[in-house]
Amino acid sequence: MSDRSGANLDIVSSETSTANSAIIMSDDRKAIVELDPDHPGFRDAEYRERRNTIAQIAIDHEPGSPVPDAPYTKEEHEVWRIICDNMAPAHQKHACSAYLEYAERLDLPKDRIPQLREVSERVQQLSGFVLEPVAGLVQPKVFLSTLGQGTFLSTQYIRHYSTPMYTPEPDVVHELIGHAAMLANPRFAELNRLMGQAAKRTETEEDVERLGRVYWYTIEFGVLREEGEVKAYGAGLLSSYGELEAMVKAEHRPFSTEAMMALPYDVTQYQPVLFCADSFDHMESTLTEYLTSWYA
Ligand SMILES: [Fe+2]
Repeated sequence: MSDRSGANLDIVSSETSTANSAIIMSDDRKAIVELDPDHPGFRDAEYRERRNTIAQIAIDHEPGSPVPDAPYTKEEHEVWRIICDNMAPAHQKHACSAYLEYAERLDLPKDRIPQLREVSERVQQLSGFVLEPVAGLVQPKVFLSTLGQGTFLSTQYIRHYSTPMYTPEPDVVHELIGHAAMLANPRFAELNRLMGQAAKRTETEEDVERLGRVYWYTIEFGVLREEGEVKAYGAGLLSSYGELEAMVKAEHRPFSTEAMMALPYDVTQYQPVLFCADSFDHMESTLTEYLTSWYA
């Protein structure tokens, strides 16, 4: 089975954004999620109502307080189960050992969508990171800077049940299957923190864009070598069956933050170029040096 995810990233730059949803606020402060006509859920009034409710949870949420449960339906829990079933063998084949180890420790349920609250509590126990709800896409600098406080801004809705292997926007599958296990790994959580602190020090739009590209080619689409094989540690790869399969055929370039900063990406296609680290240690030490010297 193949899938396509049009936006495996939680941040998108304005010129490459393909997000086909937007949040507007009514006069009485009620969130309304606008979907484009080609969104799989566009004609489903109940789905749209649920999206409004879930967006409202994020808007009303006070940072630090427990996240209220999202109202998922039986069909939506089934979407999660189908995805877990499909992804499990792909992860065994393509995910790096750091992911597999922490996915096991995190132990997300396979038969129902876990609530953000319970995943956040577990991730916090393992690495100190927390997940907070966000209604929709946020500005790159805001999203990245929040990582510096040990907080990952996460969507809570799930893709429309008619297309279990496709989403035009990052959803709870991407956040929890892609990001949460890596954020539960204390060494990777620290890299996310350093990324956020670097973003906060950034002074120009151009440099936010350059740093955003490094985020894209590492935390979202990073690969590394383990015993001679290319393995994924990026959430955009780990949350998409199609991306994981395409990863093997991509061009693998040497791990260079200079080269990443210079290479724009296209969120609408499988990534044709990936930057491959020699090992987890190599990725960690190179990124740490880069991020700590950024605007230092
Ligand atoms: Fe992401």
